[in-house]
This record gives sequence, structure tokens and C-alpha cells, in this order.
Amino acid sequence: MKSRIDQVIKRVQADYLDTLLPPRDALLARMEEFAAEHGHPIADAEVGQLMRILVRAKQPKHLIEVGTNIGYSVVVLGRECAADAVLETIELDRDILATAKRFVAEAQLACEVRFHQGKALEVLPTLDGPFDFVFIDCVKTEYEEYLDQLLPKLSKGAMIVCDNLLWGGKVAEDVHDASTDALRAFNKRITTDPRLTTIVLAAGDGVGISIVN
Ligand SMILES: C[S@@+](CC[C@H](N)C(=O)[O-])C[C@H]1O[C@@H](n2cnc3c(N)ncnc32)[C@H](O)[C@@H]1O
Repeated sequence: MKSRIDQVIKRVQADYLDTLLPPRDALLARMEEFAAEHGHPIADAEVGQLMRILVRAKQPKHLIEVGTNIGYSVVVLGRECAADAVLETIELDRDILATAKRFVAEAQLACEVRFHQGKALEVLPTLDGPFDFVFIDCVKTEYEEYLDQLLPKLSKGAMIVCDNLLWGGKVAEDVHDASTDALRAFNKRITTDPRLTTIVLAAGDGVGISIVN
């Protein structure tokens, strides 16, 4: 039980938790600066640290990321993967994908990275599973469709991480727009679908962690 439910999570706690994150290495620090300067929506450092731990513990062999952006999460995930792992990632924007490829090349990851350019909902059906780790971080109104396309390609025990599930706090408030409503429905789905075991945490912008039963 939370001792006082309204004490989680306030600005002061969030700022404090930020101080507990490890310092970023030179490449990730540069990517965070680049993202801030050019307005790229990369994963929160807290979510990065959480995924680092999840991937190190699970050691997945076939990962799929929906939403590459500049490759920040590719570097985070890829650094925890063994040399025989394959990390596939999808990005719509050609220029952003070119930037991601440059940053990821600098990271000299041991695992193989396969970049796919296109709309996620068109690319996903072309990819062969099984996948054992998923990171969904793309168009918020499409999360449920990504999940539906991916579920048949996930092995038992596969882990699904979804970012932005609290959407700046809006999903918990009386706010209605396409993304907020879609994320609210998605949260309900992943926490009630009998094929999944899920927790939604107030890390970063809200992160869901599901295991395929
Ligand atoms: C939140 S960002 C991904 C951040 C990245 N996972 C990270 O943490 O470093 C979402 C990305 O999805 C891309 N995107 C938008 N619509 C898309 C679509 N329909 N299919 C694939 N990618 C799309 C955007 O260009 C953007 O770069």
C-alpha cells in the first residue's frame, strides 16, 4: 500500500528520482542534447534505465521497436543485447532514420540492428517473428493496432514495454482528445487482456510492462 496515495508522484519526487539516475556516457549525452535542441521525443532517461535492466535480465534474442526516432532507445536496448541478438526498428521519417543510423553506427553495438523505413502498420505485417521483446513508442492512436499485429508473433514470456502511457498525466484526468482517449483504452486493454500480465508504472511519462502468458 502507498502510505499516502497523493504523494506519488510530485515534482519534488520526480526531480529527486532524476538525481538517482546514472550519468549518461558521451554518446547518449550527445543524443539527449541533440534531441532537446531539435525537438525529438526520445524516451525519458528513467525509461531508458528501466529498459536497460529489463533487457539485461531477459537477454532477448529478437527485439522489435515501433518508433526509432534518432536511435536513442536502439542504443540503450542494443547495448544490453548479446552479439547473436537482432534488434529491428521502424521509423516513418527518412531524414530522422538517417540520423538514427549515424548515431547507432557510432555506438558500435555487438548485436545486429535492422532499420525499416515506413508506416509501422504497413511494416509490421512484413516482419517475421517470433519476437521476445517489444518496445512500442510511436503513434499513440495506433498502439492497440501495433499490439494486435504483434501478438501472434510473440513467444510465450515475451516482454512488451510501452511508453507514454500516462501521457503527461492526461489519461488520468477528464481530458478527451484522440491520443489521450486511445491511450486510456490501451491501458485498459493491456491490463485486462487475459493473454498478458501487465503493470503500468509512473516512470518517465508512464510505462507499461507486459509479459505474454
Ligand atoms: C516517440 S518517437 C520514438 C522515440 C525512440 N523510441 C526513442 O526513445 O529514442 C516516435 C517516432 O515515431 C515516428 N513515427 C511517426 N509516425 C509513424 C508511423 N506511422 N510509423 C512509424 N514511425 C512513425 C516519428 O517520426 C518518431 O520519430
